Amino acid sequence: MDPRPIGVFDSGLGGLTALRELRRLLPGEHFIYFGDTGRVPYGGKGREIIQHYARQDVAFLRSFDPKAIVIACGTVSANALAELTGDNDLPIFGVVGPAAQAAAAATRNGRVGVIATAASIRSGAYEGQIAQLAPRIKVCPQACPLFVPLVENGRFRPGDKVVELVAEEYLAPLRQAGVDTLVLGCTHYPLLRAVIAQTMGTEVTLIDTGAVCADHAVRTLSAQGLLADRAQGSCRYFVSDSTQDFARLASIFLEGDIAGEVTRVEIENY
Ligand code: DGL
Repeated sequence: MDPRPIGVFDSGLGGLTALRELRRLLPGEHFIYFGDTGRVPYGGKGREIIQHYARQDVAFLRSFDPKAIVIACGTVSANALAELTGDNDLPIFGVVGPAAQAAAAATRNGRVGVIATAASIRSGAYEGQIAQLAPRIKVCPQACPLFVPLVENGRFRPGDKVVELVAEEYLAPLRQAGVDTLVLGCTHYPLLRAVIAQTMGTEVTLIDTGAVCADHAVRTLSAQGLLADRAQGSCRYFVSDSTQDFARLASIFLEGDIAGEVTRVEIENY
């Protein structure tokens, strides 16, 4: 048993989708969530900057002496997991490995699509992981840079012509490639699930990376005897930009659940 908190971070508030899943699975844990709202988006940045930001995000979370850290961000998971794991002596979970495993297990025709930010796709992380698990699977990657701003502006529901048009343009090549499994490799894409399912067809299996990562982290911590022994946990929220916009954005990602009190952090000091 370990009463210490679990740290969770993302480039912004999209990672709240993964945090919600973690809290559902582990109601007795204390969580510290950090969203780097002052420097978001990471998805259009280069690998070195992403690694530098991610190191600072982890250094901040480590000031709470966490027992583990979950990288909710697809872009950080794809570009910095090895570096963060090498620098830190605590379990750090990213989304790419668990999602690659889930996709390899789900595909029946051996064709898997991956949609994510430009930096995640450029990293080749999903192709690498899936090739290790099942070299015969063909991976079809597609960057979808317009999805993040659309979601953050509340444009993700079926019937919204703008998001449907963008989804059609990004997803048509994957449909043509005949993928039967699609990895939603970014924190924001679970909100687009209905639009993506409608565009790809309901027979395509969609993998929610935040949810499979949360599930993997919970199973690992439980197997290592690292879960806390308490009935009701808590969550503290930290951001690097003004706290004013937190409630509006948090309500998009938490779909109505109340987020709680939020504190601003000078992340450049870490
Ligand atoms: N959190 C990022 C991800 O999952 C999306 C937003 C960004 O580009 O920073 O890749």
